Amino acid sequence: MNTPILDGRIALVTGGTTGLGFGAAQRLIDEGATVYITGRRKDVLDEAAAKLGPSATGIQADATSKSDMLRVADTIKAAHGHLDILFANAGGGHATPLEELTEQQIDSELSINVKGVVLTVQSLLGVLRDGASITLNASITADMGLPGFAVYAATKAAVRSLARSWTTDLKHRRIRVNSISPGVVPTEGYGHVQKMTDDQISAYAERVAEEIPAGRVGTAQDIGDALVFLASDSARYITGIDLVVDGGMTRVYAGKN
Ligand SMILES: NC(=O)c1ccc[n+]([C@@H]2O[C@H](COP(=O)([O-])OP(=O)(O)OC[C@H]3O[C@@H](n4cnc5c(N)ncnc54)[C@H](OP(=O)(O)O)[C@@H]3O)[C@@H](O)[C@H]2O)c1
Repeated sequence: MNTPILDGRIALVTGGTTGLGFGAAQRLIDEGATVYITGRRKDVLDEAAAKLGPSATGIQADATSKSDMLRVADTIKAAHGHLDILFANAGGGHATPLEELTEQQIDSELSINVKGVVLTVQSLLGVLRDGASITLNASITADMGLPGFAVYAATKAAVRSLARSWTTDLKHRRIRVNSISPGVVPTEGYGHVQKMTDDQISAYAERVAEEIPAGRVGTAQDIGDALVFLASDSARYITGIDLVVDGGMTRVYAGKN
């Protein structure tokens, strides 16, 4: 049997309790990594860590809190001395017509998608080993004009920009920094953040699949596979990129001629 490609690696996935973060944590574990996941809701965190099994540890932490993220770094340092893989995934947002956008929503999306990503990477720098891999979760919305998603899209454009800047900031430590831009991947967040019902999610997924060259919406495993690749030695010469994982949705015309 081949040795799993991330055998012995230590990984952290912020927002690893549901959706893309949970799927990424699962794939990292499949490939041999020991994985730490974070989230704010303790019950959801405990349930996710139990589902992921003995290679996973949950740490309750808010990614927008520097003291929480320093505590995460200290916990990993005490247990392993270093971190090999960081997936700054915690984030989210929902569609709101421009006229109805509140200060609270603007602050909240900037806070989790930009401030949280900066604090996560900054707080973990002391435990990340030289040559480590950092991946930020961005979004295809960064270069689309989706109705109601202006602020969310702007925060994800910022995430892509952060990945490029940090590639140079961390060059002296050979730390690779990339982002992933997922396409449409129905997750728990579509329900509790975007306030869509199960029926609305299914109808949306069916409709949008017609516009996706791959013929379907994405899955958490699709994104987890991309993360595993970027975190692995196979991506040793890849840094500063944005890897679009959207079934071709934003690059290819899938309509009928
Ligand atoms: N699903 C998609 O179609 C899609 C497409 C493009 C990009 N993305 C990006 O992918 C990432 C994950 O999205 P998802 O769809 O998987 O959403 P999700 O199912 O709602 O999962 C979000 C995760 O982040 C955690 N979280 C939220 N705020 C947090 C905070 N302040 N501190 C720590 N953890 C926090 C949540 O747990 P708690 O609420 O308990 O903290 C949960 O674990 C986001 O960055 C999102 O923008 C998603």
